[in-house]
Parts: sequence; C-alpha cells; structure tokens
Amino acid sequence: MKNIAIIGAGLMGHGIAQVMAVHGCRVTLMDLKAEILAAARKHIHANLTLLAGHGLGATDDIEPALNRITCTGNLQDAVGNAELVIEAVVEKLAIKQKLFMDLDDLCAPETILATNTSVISISEIARPARHRHRIVGTHFWNPPYLIPLVEVIKGVDTSNETMEQTFAFLQAVGKHPVKVLRDVPGFVGNRLQHALWREALSIVEQGIADAATVDECIKFGFGIRLPVLGPLENVDMVGTDLTLDIHNYLLRHLEHSSKPSGLLIAKVKHNELGFKTGKGYQEWSPEMMSESRTRLQEYLIDVIKSKGKQQ
Ligand code: NAI
Repeated sequence: MKNIAIIGAGLMGHGIAQVMAVHGCRVTLMDLKAEILAAARKHIHANLTLLAGHGLGATDDIEPALNRITCTGNLQDAVGNAELVIEAVVEKLAIKQKLFMDLDDLCAPETILATNTSVISISEIARPARHRHRIVGTHFWNPPYLIPLVEVIKGVDTSNETMEQTFAFLQAVGKHPVKVLRDVPGFVGNRLQHALWREALSIVEQGIADAATVDECIKFGFGIRLPVLGPLENVDMVGTDLTLDIHNYLLRHLEHSSKPSGLLIAKVKHNELGFKTGKGYQEWSPEMMSESRTRLQEYLIDVIKSKGKQQ
C-alpha cells in the first residue's frame, strides 16, 4: 500500500503521517482546521530535524518526506485514491461512527479503514457502516514515530484478510504490530498499563508510599528489566508454581475497585491536574516539567538508536 490517508492531523495524526511519509508512502493528511494542518507540517519538520540531529535519518531526506505529504480540509479529496485510511480524530464515538459511514461511501470497497481509537470498541465504531469487514483498529502509541508498537485489533466483523494486510503494511513501514484477537476495552496495552496505574494510585491513597517513591520502585526496580522481560516470560522464569503461591497470598490485598481512585477524583476537583496546572500527585515547576519531557524524549531516541532504525 502506497497511498495513505490520515484523518485528523492533531497529536497522533501528524506523527502517523510522518511515519508513513518517511517510509516512502504518499500521504494525504486531512483535518477540519486549517491551522492544525499548518501546525502539523511544522511539527513533522521539527521532529525529523530532531531525529536527523541524533543520526536517525538524513537531513537531505526531510524535504522529500514532507513533499510526500499533501494536506487538505476535504474528506473526499483525502480518501479518493487511498488504499488505507487511518482515522485519528477526537475520541468521540458519534464523530467516529459518522466518519466511518462517510468513508464507506467515499472509498473503494477494497480500501482498508483503520481507527486509532485508544479505548473505544472497534465493533461499536464500525456498527453503522455497511462494509464492516474492512474496518480494523490500529492503536499507535504516542509519539508514533518513537514507539514501535501498534495494536492491530479485530472487531467482530473484521476479516482475517484485513487483519493480515494491515499487519503486513505496518511491518513494512517499520512498526512493531501485534494482533489483538478480541475487541475488548483498553485492548492489551492500556489494560496492562492501567492495571499498574490503579495499583500505583491506590498505594499513594493508602499512605503506603508517596508518589515519587512509587515511581522510584519502578524506575530503579522491575521497570529496568521490563524492556527485555515481559511478565509472562517472567512467570515462566521464576516458575508458575511460585507465581501461584504468591497470587494465593497476595491477590486479595491488591486494589480491585472498578471505580476511579477517590484521591484522583479529589485532585481533579481541586484543579490539581498535573503538568497542566503545576500540581498533581507532585508539585511541578516549569523547569521540572521541561526536564521530564526532555528526559523521556532523549531516552526514547536512545532506544530507537540502539535498535538502529527510525520508526
Ligand atoms: P487531537 O485532539 O490532538 O487531534 C484530533 C484532531 O481531529 C483535531 O485536530 C481535530 O480538528 C480533528 N478532527 C475532529 N473531528 C474531525 C473530523 N470529523 N474530520 C477531520 N478531522 C477532525 O487528538 P489526538 O491526541 O491526536 O487523538 C486522536 C485519536 O488518537 C483519538 O481517538 C485518541 O484517543 C487516539 N490516541 C491518542 C493518543 C495520545 O496519546 N494522545 C495515543 C493513542 C491513541
């Protein structure tokens, strides 16, 4: 697939467009807002310049990649020639459903239609559309040009052919796709991530440790080995029998509330929104926030460099 349309040019849409263009695809980037499209080009230029500065891609390749991206405010123009359309508009079910109904009419029957939703059911998004077999989830992670994973999610009507073609395409553009065989809320990555966050917030709420200490337990503890040892390989390494003994004793003590943490609700109520307001679980000065963002970006770039290719 060489002709790709990305609908929604915000945080995720422009990053996904960048990935495709760097790997030689012709990309049409569509958004309702002209200023978002203008900003998207600037962000992509800045991202590619940053990566080139770290030896990930050549400066000479930046303009050709940008030239492969066409911006438009017209949906029909965006998707007319597309072999794959990736939707990255706001996380609202009704807007996504309407878009997929429109795409159904505007696109050739063989065009694959993908949604980058973080949590909404793929089957729900596809429900009002007619050709649901070609609608699939492609859950990229932020920033899409630095995080390799894309979850490819099978809705109840998604065909195996759509799954296979999407998977193969994502591999061809340098991503690390995985197949999620059932369309459950949070898919795989966000279920795992938020199971950990629920426990972390609960530990703070119960006064077992403060927020910085919880994060230290991960950053200086099991977090160090996570990139090379996932939990299921770890279960086998230590033994299923030991894991069973631990779970028989421990699981009943873990957080299992199906509601958000009371402390989290109180923080939102008191406008302690984290980086947005300078205070959340911890106090954040502008320097600390900038240092945190830079540390993350440099770490991710180092990881990609060590793998020897640009995502
Ligand atoms: P965003 O708010 O930065 O961008 C959304 C864009 O969609 C806006 O520029 C808006 O003008 C445009 N838009 C809204 N309705 C439209 C329509 N009908 N047609 C064309 N454009 C339209 O949002 P963001 O963060 O990029 O998220 C996009 C999608 O990706 C959401 O479904 C989100 O849940 C998902 N996602 C977000 C992640 C994140 O870390 N922000 C990570 C993974 C997935």
